[in-house]
Amino acid sequence: MLNKLQKEIIELKKEKNAIILAHNYQTGDIQEIADFLGDSLELCIKASQIEDADMVVFCGVDFMAETAAILNPEKLIVLPDKNAECPMAHMLKAEEIKTYKKRYPDAAVVLYVNTLAEAKAEADILCTSANAVKVVESLDNDRILFGPDTNLGWFVSHQLKDKEIIPAPEGGHCYVHKMFNLADLYFLREKYPEADILVHPECDAEVQEYADYVLSTGGMMAHAKTSDKTTFIIATEYDLVTRLRRENPGKTFIPALDDALCETMKLHTLEKVKNSLLNQEFVVKVPEDIAKKAKTAIDRMLDVS
Ligand code: 13P
Ligand code: SF4
Repeated sequence: MLNKLQKEIIELKKEKNAIILAHNYQTGDIQEIADFLGDSLELCIKASQIEDADMVVFCGVDFMAETAAILNPEKLIVLPDKNAECPMAHMLKAEEIKTYKKRYPDAAVVLYVNTLAEAKAEADILCTSANAVKVVESLDNDRILFGPDTNLGWFVSHQLKDKEIIPAPEGGHCYVHKMFNLADLYFLREKYPEADILVHPECDAEVQEYADYVLSTGGMMAHAKTSDKTTFIIATEYDLVTRLRRENPGKTFIPALDDALCETMKLHTLEKVKNSLLNQEFVVKVPEDIAKKAKTAIDRMLDVS
């Protein structure tokens, strides 16, 4: 049952001809009113296909809303809380990439979508956790400059042994996924021996190696729906478990950690979503020259996906 505020937001969306796109890490009350809920790749594909809406309320972090703005320069893209930044996306600046490119002129530049638009403009192609292996595999270059997530880079290098993955920068990471550790997984494996352990590729290499599956959040949703198993241990941000439980009522989902929360994802609230719709706040715009270059790298990724 939707509450009063959720119903008001749904009415406002119709009035403003707006849609709400939300990432899987949003709280349950926002997940329930989203027109589309997904992982970074699914959101990017959805953002590339918006036709009839005039306004997009993006319940996610800065780099996701920027990507939607790059793909829809004529539409109004708003972020309910302007401080919803992904710290990892701020770990690799455009200037730094230029320096790396000079040092490794033969390398292709593959950047995780978790980067700001200025950095994206320096990439040959982008990737997400769902398609990173496919993207790197599609390139002729043997050497790949890959950033900012070192753990996702490790995941790719583990799958594609013939590629040399050079992390840019050293030690780029997500503080939320760094929290997962082997000791907790050993304990949970013992407690739930029948469960599949699903971990995100932003987790440390040893955690990935121990898991049954390494998947994006969208990959985890798909696996849980189609698997014959009924119990799953989930090592990613807590609110993916909220979605998994809502959409798979007959199955059991155990968060590998209860406090793995992405604080900036959680800055969005129903009140702020309502404010976004009423007052067109906070507008996300990307300068045209940067958007044009970044769009080339985004389009290349969408072609490969
Ligand atoms: P997904 O694309 O797997 O949803 O991951 C996004 C993200 O920011 C993970 O921390
Ligand atoms: Fe960024 Fe990590 Fe939050 Fe994902 S979970 S948005 S990578 S800080």
